[in-house]
Amino acid sequence: MPKKSKSRKSKKAWSGRFQKAMAKSAEEFTSSTHYDVRLYKQDIVQSIAYAQTLLKAHVISAKEAKRIIKGLEAILKGMERGKVKLDPALEDVHMNIESMLISKIGDVGKKLHSGRSRNDQVSTDLRMYLKFEATEIIMLIKKMQTVLLDLAEQHIKVIMPGYTHLQRAQPVLLSHHLMAYFEMLERDKARFISAGAAADVMPLGSGALAGNDFKIDRELLAKELGFSCISANSMDAVSDRDFVIDFIAACAVLMMHLSRFSEEIVLWSTWEFDFIELSDKFATGSSIMPQKKNPDIAEIVRGKTGRVYGHLQGLLTTMKGLPLAYNRDMQEDKEAVFDVVDTVRTVLDVFGEMLASINFNAEQMGRSAKKGYLTATDLASYLVRRNVPFREAHKIVGEIVAYCEESNMELEYLSLKQLKQFSDKFSYDATRILSAQSSVNSKDVPGGTAPNRVKDAIKHARKHLLHDKA
Ligand code: ARG
Repeated sequence: MPKKSKSRKSKKAWSGRFQKAMAKSAEEFTSSTHYDVRLYKQDIVQSIAYAQTLLKAHVISAKEAKRIIKGLEAILKGMERGKVKLDPALEDVHMNIESMLISKIGDVGKKLHSGRSRNDQVSTDLRMYLKFEATEIIMLIKKMQTVLLDLAEQHIKVIMPGYTHLQRAQPVLLSHHLMAYFEMLERDKARFISAGAAADVMPLGSGALAGNDFKIDRELLAKELGFSCISANSMDAVSDRDFVIDFIAACAVLMMHLSRFSEEIVLWSTWEFDFIELSDKFATGSSIMPQKKNPDIAEIVRGKTGRVYGHLQGLLTTMKGLPLAYNRDMQEDKEAVFDVVDTVRTVLDVFGEMLASINFNAEQMGRSAKKGYLTATDLASYLVRRNVPFREAHKIVGEIVAYCEESNMELEYLSLKQLKQFSDKFSYDATRILSAQSSVNSKDVPGGTAPNRVKDAIKHARKHLLHDKA
């Protein structure tokens, strides 16, 4: 006769070999229900497909499969109505759902987990979740790209200083600057497509680590769950979190782009730049200084970038010392990835709205593009066209800039006579190339800032976005 022990009363599905109940502190410490509840839908959908697979493998009967599936469907409905609360003592969402199923349909519910482990189960859930989130984030990125295209179109005539080293460098179109972010987001989408593809491999059927005990049809199961393929090695399958890291890495790069943009918004909204005014709807005031209008949205986006990087670093560190195969450390992936998803989604939403409501100060941008000898390179190129070697031309124009600085004037206002003092290669047309407008006009190569090129880029991007099925 087996000894009667406390473990008989334990709620845990695995309590058979235990003599003592788990300490409250340990139970609380290990429980993940308060966050992995977010996977309930994937978990139930997975279980329904798994029950069908068990039926096909003759592990359960048709009648049993039917009862299990009906039970799971009822649980799903209950959860969707927000009626069901998980019991933290049952450790995680998977055990909770299984236990609900057993109390709903009785002992037959105990058959569902045959051959399956939470190790292949949790990875399958998470992959289903991230596949979905990757497409959601791609949609949000596209929305932001549309905002950028609209702004670029509306401001196609606006010229601003382009910077290197945050020093005025050459005149560019504001639209060209905005389209640079469009391109970054284009690459971000590609990263999310690739992260989605990394998640699109089904681990289910790997069991705890060695494989499934029954002759289940994994290919069919994958098809039913919408996976493109199945994992090739059961040990790798249950211990792999590369797909989570890929996803967070894609988020980190996206956030890096948005953080750079935020930095520009912060700078541009200062009196020092005065390039933009934020809408009142997307700015905050100061509790003490009545005049203040602060770019807090952009600052928080910049701030949250650190948080997303932190999760990437965190998970990489969690994984770095883990022996094969599953280790409980990996449970830490979920809070990280959920927080990253929430952060990125909110950021894309609010940042896009803020962008759309920005008022660009075209006059100030134009004025700034006229001050600081931004067309000096154009002047050097003029000499190159007159057969002066570029290095020589560079030197001559450098001297002209020094002269202008001394006499406190801009290149644009130099007379031909003044220019000729530096080189006899200058003729009447040299004075015509020194405006910001002629400078941007001259950058007439694919990818350049000439208005016709930027218009083409916008048109092309708009068409591409429309047909982009990602
Ligand atoms: N909740 C765990 C996780 O998220 C899955 C459970 C695996 N537990 C186990 N004892 N093998 O990773």
